[in-house]
Amino acid sequence: MPTALIILAAGQGSRMNSDLPKVLHEVGNAPLFAHALAAGSALSPEKTVLVVGHGGDLVEAAARKIDETITVARQTEQLGTAHAVAQAREALADFDGDALVLYGDTPFVSAETLERMTAARATHDVVVLGFEAADPARYGRLVVNGDRLERIVEFKDADAATRAITLCNSGVVCADATILFALIDAVGNDNASGEYYLTDIVEIAWKMGKTATAVSCDETETLGINTRTELARAEGLFQASKRAEALENGVTLTAPETVFFSLDTYVGRDAVIEPNVVFGPNVTIESNARIRAFSHLEGCHVSMGSAVGPFARLRPGAELSNNAHVGNFVEIKNAKIGEGTKVNHLTYIGDAEIGDGTNVGAGTITCNYDGVFKHKTTVGKNAFIGSNTMLVAPVTLGDDAMTASGSVITTNVEAGALAIARARQVNKAGLAVRMFEKLKSAKKKSQKGS
Ligand code: UD1
Ligand code: CA
Repeated sequence: MPTALIILAAGQGSRMNSDLPKVLHEVGNAPLFAHALAAGSALSPEKTVLVVGHGGDLVEAAARKIDETITVARQTEQLGTAHAVAQAREALADFDGDALVLYGDTPFVSAETLERMTAARATHDVVVLGFEAADPARYGRLVVNGDRLERIVEFKDADAATRAITLCNSGVVCADATILFALIDAVGNDNASGEYYLTDIVEIAWKMGKTATAVSCDETETLGINTRTELARAEGLFQASKRAEALENGVTLTAPETVFFSLDTYVGRDAVIEPNVVFGPNVTIESNARIRAFSHLEGCHVSMGSAVGPFARLRPGAELSNNAHVGNFVEIKNAKIGEGTKVNHLTYIGDAEIGDGTNVGAGTITCNYDGVFKHKTTVGKNAFIGSNTMLVAPVTLGDDAMTASGSVITTNVEAGALAIARARQVNKAGLAVRMFEKLKSAKKKSQKGS
């Protein structure tokens, strides 16, 4: 059965006390809504509709960066969850299949739980995700009878007996799209909040001769974010689960609690991640790579058997081929580092391509920026860049080329050539001793005077 996702993300989230719409706050370096989107994407949806309202343009722009094909629907006034879902009707006019409603501010619902919900559609028209709440607080309550979900009662509208129920509504709903919109048409707003409740579709379904059931998940999956405190807690939970996932996938984490992942971090089997490593967005680490302590990586790819750090910084566009070595206090940006190439100490490589088997000496700097334009540095295979070489881009060094240490390279170096670009050394016999004597006697005179 084809699936469509409807992600509700129109709320302001006033308790975040922020200029930013709530769903743009980040967990694991990804906006909140991207987490629900990622879980739903595991079902290979035919269509995804994001319902936006507060900060709609910002949310839409962020969504496009993640998925260009996403459809954005506007909810200009937030009249309730049923009203929010109704805004997706037009986008799904030609869609035939199940619609799955997710909340943009509820990041932890798992793909496995969503799969259980779509499976339950085989026997029921409407499937609602519930959870046993440790503290049911103000959640909507699920009134069940065997496998029948009879109705959902919002806390505000519930009597004492209903409030005693601990099975709560997560908000996630799955139903045939056509039926879902037909049910929503029948939802009114005659309730304690004066809102169109999505939860009302359950009772309406039974009245229309349809059936509803509840599927349960762990409470941690339904955690919604409303405050900065909850956001911080969600970050902690996210990191804990990414660490556990990495360990399970055969990654060694020496001190797991000090390693920080992003939603899209990928680390291959038998990679070793030492303490205090931060993975920003869009990092892939292949098998058998080692990331040494205190390294910061984002937007980069590290191939098999490479070693990075300690204290290395890989910025967007850094691409390390197999068995490359990037050592301490090295920064690499938008640059390809060849197979087996070593960039071991105190170096900046930006906008560059360095061939295989090359050695980049300590203190090498690609001078890639003239204040207006960025320029490229190209170094061939098996080259040797002497320590403290400035490579003033645009500049190209051929295979097997060499630079003398301390050189400022401003013109191309052909293959196999040695470039020396520094002042010639001159030694003045005895001058050091005479200079010192002069300075010492000057100091004595000045002390007598004072
Ligand atoms: C909702 C459920 C409640 C459930 C709880 C779980 C209803 C009526 N109630 O209550 O049973 O226990 O979630 O957290 O559905 N949204 C819009 N547009 C709107 C209203 C809401 O996009 O007009 C979005 C919000 O941004 C949020 C989500 O829908 O992501 C839930 O809305 P919220 O107002 O938080 O619902 P609750 O009152 O918490
Ligand atoms: Ca809520």
